Amino acid sequence: MRVLVLTGAGVSAESGIPTFRGKDGYWRNLDPTRLATPEAFARDPQLVWDWYRERRQRIRNAQPNAAHEAIARLAHHAKDFLLVTQNVDDLHARAGMPAQKMVQIHGDIFVTRCSRCDWRTELRDADIHNIRGHIGLAGACPSADGNEQEDVEHGIPTCRKCRALMRPGVVWFGEQLPWNELQRVEDFLDGGACEVVIVAGTTATFGYIIDWALQGSPECLRGELIEVNPEETPLSRFATRLVREPAAIALPRIVNEMIRS
Ligand code: OAD
Repeated sequence: MRVLVLTGAGVSAESGIPTFRGKDGYWRNLDPTRLATPEAFARDPQLVWDWYRERRQRIRNAQPNAAHEAIARLAHHAKDFLLVTQNVDDLHARAGMPAQKMVQIHGDIFVTRCSRCDWRTELRDADIHNIRGHIGLAGACPSADGNEQEDVEHGIPTCRKCRALMRPGVVWFGEQLPWNELQRVEDFLDGGACEVVIVAGTTATFGYIIDWALQGSPECLRGELIEVNPEETPLSRFATRLVREPAAIALPRIVNEMIRS
C-alpha cells in the first residue's frame, strides 16, 4: 500500500493546541496569521517571540492524541508512506512517527535560527531565552545541559556568529518552503500514485496542499482521497470520501479499516 497523509492544525486541536483560524487561535487579541510573518517580526520581534514562547510551552505540556497515534500506526504498516504536516509542533514525532517518513513543510517550532546567516540551534528541554528574557539580562547564557551557549539581548536571542536576531525555525507567510523538504515531497510523488491519500485537519488554504493531494491521488487511477475535517474546505469537492468528524475520532477507525483490508 502506498499512502500519503497531509495534516494541518486540526489534527493537534484535540491535544489542546489552538488552530490558526479557529476561534481559539487569537492571542492577546492578535490574529496569528498576522503574527506569523516576516513583517511582524521586523516590526516587533519581542511580541513575536513572546507568542512563540507561549506556543512552545503549550506544546511541551501537550500530549499526542489518537489521531497522531493512528497516523504513526499507518506509517508502520504501509509499504510506502509519507506524512506531510503543516504543523510545527512535535506531536506526530512523539506519537512514534519515524523522521524519515515525515516532512514538516512549515518547519519546527523548537528550532531557533538566525534571521541572517545559517546558524541554528534546538532547545527542546528548556527555553533558556525565556529564563534570560524574564530576568532581563543580556549576554551569554548556558543552556540546560550547561554546554551550549546562547546570546540574548533584552529577551530576544541573538546569533553567536553574526549577532543578528534569532527567529523561530518556522516558515512564515510569504516565505519560501524549505528546499530539502520540498524535494522530499516531490520525490515521493514522483515515485508513483497512491492507493490512499488522507487530508486531515487543514483548511487547505495553500495551493501546494491541494496540488499534492491531487497529484498523489490522480482521478484516472481511482485512488481514494479521504478528507477528515468537520468543516468543508476547497479540497472537499475532490474527495472520494468525506469524513466530517474530529480527527481523533475518525482516524483511528479509518486506519483500522485500512490495516484490516
Ligand atoms: P487552520 O487553522 O487554517 O485550519 C484548521 C482546520 O482544522 C480547519 O479546517 C478546521 O475545520 C479543522 N479542524 C478543527 N478541529 C478539528 C479536529 N478536531 N479534527 C479535524 N479537523 C479539525 O490550520 P491549517 O490548515 O493547518 O502556516 O493552516 C495551514 C497553515 O496556515 C499553517 O501551517 C500556518 C497557517 O497560517 C504558516 O504559518 C505558513
